[in-house]
Amino acid sequence: MNYKEYTANRISELCGLPLEEVSKLIETPPEQKLGDLAFPCFSLAKAMRKAPQIIAKELSEKFSGDRYIENAEAVGGYLNFFYNRAEFTKDIVNEVLEKGEDYGKSSMGGGKTVLVEYSSPNIAKPFHIGHLFTTALGHSLARIYEFLGYDVKRLNHLGDWGTQFGKLICAYKLWGDDEAIEKDAIGELLKIYVKFHEEAEKNPELEDTAREHFKRLEDGEEEEVRLWQKFRDLSLKEFKRVYDMLGVDFDSYNGESFYSDKMPEVVEILRDKGLLTESDGAKVVDLAELNIPPCIILKSDGATIYATRDIAAALYRHRTYDFYKNIYVVGTAQALHFQQIFSVMKKAGWDWAEGCEHVNFGLVKFPDKKLSTRHGDVVFLEDVLNESVSKTLDIITKNTPQMENKEEVSKKVGIGAVLYTFLKNSREKDIVFSWDTMLDFDGESAPYVQYSYARGRSILRRAGDTEKTADFSSVTSDEEYALVTMLSGFYDAAALAAEKNEPFYVNRYVTNLARQFNKFYVSCPILKDGIPEEVKNARLNIVEAVCTVIKSALFLLGIETVENM
Ligand code: ARG
Repeated sequence: MNYKEYTANRISELCGLPLEEVSKLIETPPEQKLGDLAFPCFSLAKAMRKAPQIIAKELSEKFSGDRYIENAEAVGGYLNFFYNRAEFTKDIVNEVLEKGEDYGKSSMGGGKTVLVEYSSPNIAKPFHIGHLFTTALGHSLARIYEFLGYDVKRLNHLGDWGTQFGKLICAYKLWGDDEAIEKDAIGELLKIYVKFHEEAEKNPELEDTAREHFKRLEDGEEEEVRLWQKFRDLSLKEFKRVYDMLGVDFDSYNGESFYSDKMPEVVEILRDKGLLTESDGAKVVDLAELNIPPCIILKSDGATIYATRDIAAALYRHRTYDFYKNIYVVGTAQALHFQQIFSVMKKAGWDWAEGCEHVNFGLVKFPDKKLSTRHGDVVFLEDVLNESVSKTLDIITKNTPQMENKEEVSKKVGIGAVLYTFLKNSREKDIVFSWDTMLDFDGESAPYVQYSYARGRSILRRAGDTEKTADFSSVTSDEEYALVTMLSGFYDAAALAAEKNEPFYVNRYVTNLARQFNKFYVSCPILKDGIPEEVKNARLNIVEAVCTVIKSALFLLGIETVENM
């Protein structure tokens, strides 16, 4: 039963306006006490030569309630419709209970392919907190698109190519310590890489040696390739440790190196189309008409660059996946880069480039500097996750010393807390990292939502088997009804999140749902003595439906639930 459609039909009959127009006009009132749907009468005023207030009043008098809509009230120029609460509750709660984790899913994606490129850390460089932002966003977006019926491919565009690998190979040959690398690969590789730069200031020939090594790597010389492969494998092993903690996975780890042999074709195409011009010896695509700097395709020394690899990657993705959308979850700092490569692709006449989109995000700031770091200023992601888990364990040990599976719960809650933080606000906003906010069990946090879920599950466990009921006529108080109407909002939250590439719509939705659930919990006793059986049953049904939706919504954010907390 689609109440919105149904109401629109009734309004159309009532006032004679075509259904389509009515559907466009109806609104959701700002407050529950103003009803479930509102029809503004202002646009009728001219044709009917009457004040909107009068029209609303007359329509309300003409309207007669039915099984689904109890009544219509005129307030100002609006006609407010009130659903039959018991009927509506029955519909929604039963739909949730029947569909279970499928509730909220839709087929709007129609199986179209959406590529979500995210995380994409750099080999032999720290997997740092900025990468957590893209990882959290991308992981969530991928799940949201899947939920809406798209065929999603998760891509990790590893930064595994470039002249820096010549430097790293050079550094390794001079100072590489396999034992230390065995223990802490990225930490150690970073150390010798930093040392390379320090030494190269005193001894510039090192740069030449590094260039030679990179040249040899590009030419496929055995030793360089072996070392590069070793760095890549070791780094990937560390990245995967973090991905396991987060429950993140990828369909492809084709990084920049994968595209290095696919660049000549790009250069050729651009040259054939007459798009390449000469600038200080480099080959560029001029983008002056768009008021942005030219996109460099080939450097003066013939070396190719980041942008060219990205263009080759997009072409490859088009050919391999024939995507509907190709989303890049990358920080705002690279906005110009994406603007440039998308423009070049469009100039090349590739109409599929319209499906490419840069989903940008802000910075992460640390006001309290209380993070423990192993490596100077860089905040390693793994350290943040571990610290969050251990802080959560402290809190739980203090609050609930008797809990049996504290470690397991702390992992899910501690990691959930971090992910939530990145999905809490519109992604373009900077994030101020604060343990207090993140782990505030009563605030706007993952632990708060996870706790609400656990609370619901504990009620259901205590109640034993719940009987499905069809009688919701005794559970129509404002607190109960507000909760039920929120359940029906899950569809819109997921769809909006995909439309704007903003998981925070789902985050805000589930947080509000948890908040309303806690209000309901306080004002609507369930297992107390003296509660009539039918009330108890109906409320238990509502609780079960709420738990189902909280779990699904948290899943879309990449956050796990716990059964007790
Ligand atoms: N590796 C890059 C970084 O860490 C991000 C890669 C973004 N993706 C792309 N297709 N350029 O900054």
